[in-house]
Amino acid sequence: MKDLTMEKIVNYCKQYGFVYQGSEIYGGLANSWDYGPLGKEIKENIKKAWWKKFIQEERNSFGLDAAIIMNPEVWVASGHVASFADPLIDCKSCKSRHRADKLIEDFTEGKETGDGWDNKKLEKYIADNKIPCPKCGKSDFTGIRQFNLLFETHMGVTEDSASKVYLRGETAQGIFVNFNNVLRSGRAKIPFGIGQIGKAFRNEITPGNFIFRTREFEQMEYEFFCKPDTDLEWHTYWKQKCLDFLKDVGLREENLRYRDHSPEELSFYSKATTDIEYKYPMGWGELWGIADRTNYDLSVHEEHAKTELRYLDPETNEKYIPYVIEPSVGVDRLFLAILCDAYDEEDLDGDTREVLHIAPSLAAYKVAVLPLVKKYHSEKAMEVWNELSKQFMTSYDESGSIGKRYRRSDAIGTPFCITIDDETINNGTVTIRERDTMKQETVELSKVVDYIKERIK
Ligand code: GAP
Repeated sequence: MKDLTMEKIVNYCKQYGFVYQGSEIYGGLANSWDYGPLGKEIKENIKKAWWKKFIQEERNSFGLDAAIIMNPEVWVASGHVASFADPLIDCKSCKSRHRADKLIEDFTEGKETGDGWDNKKLEKYIADNKIPCPKCGKSDFTGIRQFNLLFETHMGVTEDSASKVYLRGETAQGIFVNFNNVLRSGRAKIPFGIGQIGKAFRNEITPGNFIFRTREFEQMEYEFFCKPDTDLEWHTYWKQKCLDFLKDVGLREENLRYRDHSPEELSFYSKATTDIEYKYPMGWGELWGIADRTNYDLSVHEEHAKTELRYLDPETNEKYIPYVIEPSVGVDRLFLAILCDAYDEEDLDGDTREVLHIAPSLAAYKVAVLPLVKKYHSEKAMEVWNELSKQFMTSYDESGSIGKRYRRSDAIGTPFCITIDDETINNGTVTIRERDTMKQETVELSKVVDYIKERIK
């Protein structure tokens, strides 16, 4: 499928119940999205796959579920209150607001990202190149102001500055502040990792491209604590591990690439950062960031919280602040990549088959039960549905021709359709049709559960 557009994906998601516009009946809320029945299933399956790979199957790996609202000092220590900001620029003519670095990135079609540039350099580049306002086309901008991305709210009954708290801007800080807790309760030995999945909130200046950049999103973050001077080796290890995971969940290699941050772009505390980018319909975009954060986070929390956040090596008796490698990926961005990669429109004898070639383990429904003729076969089909639904997410469809029902389940990515017909009633066999090859096989009813289990691993 060559010409997949974002508009097509948005419409597809809405039509079949993957993602809807948030608060739609009230006219929506800018850039907020709700996951529908199918989207929710896929999202959960993505999170399960990540958890299995990064927590369950990784040695010395621990899971966590920290609070969204934390002590505001956490965000002072981490640097978010002072400098978690984007460069905001206003068009003097139409009053629209833009992110200065994004203006440059879009204008140069990604050749310049503006990352790591100070405001003066950004302003100069915009003026020198007469970059036009994307809304009105004029090139007449204000100076740049830093706009903090943290969402503020108040806790308790008063709304004074003493009660100010933040919605977390990343899940990572919940992990750093629990370093000692997990170390002690888990009797962890370096190197070890702590991972968590959860919502993060950023008051983005220019959210957009559907669920690619939103103000409320979900992250799967992993903080891997290691000995100083082993960090660069581990950075290479995690880069590979993340890429392998993406291939495992079905993304095509040609749509993935590494992008190393240039020294200019690198955060002052980072020794190396690599993004894994995906080729989305609107172009290459960051999917997963893998950062060597050195011992920065634990050091600043140690200082602000006045609590030692160190590791005592039981063999050498040496005490040190561990270094951290952080692979951090957005669930929503991965969801979007998986859908874009799997969606296809195939020509079938002059007809078009819409099909989602999603990995069976991620598919919303694993199997669809279809009575061939409703009048004769629906009772048996419901019996089969009752059994299969104890094992898998199973759909049931009895309306329309069998061909149309196959197409509907192909379009939502159901890997197997089971047709219930006279053979089922008389001989206890069913026809199983596979989504990608459309091949059909006769299987004994008693073996169907194992047949599907084997193929959706
Ligand atoms: N703790 C490090 C951190 O949060 P980040 O690069 O800002 O790093 C990590 O975010 C990942 O979270 C990104 O690679 C992206 O997948 C996802 N992400 C970040 N901002 C997002 C947004 N506004 N909407 C959706 N996903 C976002």
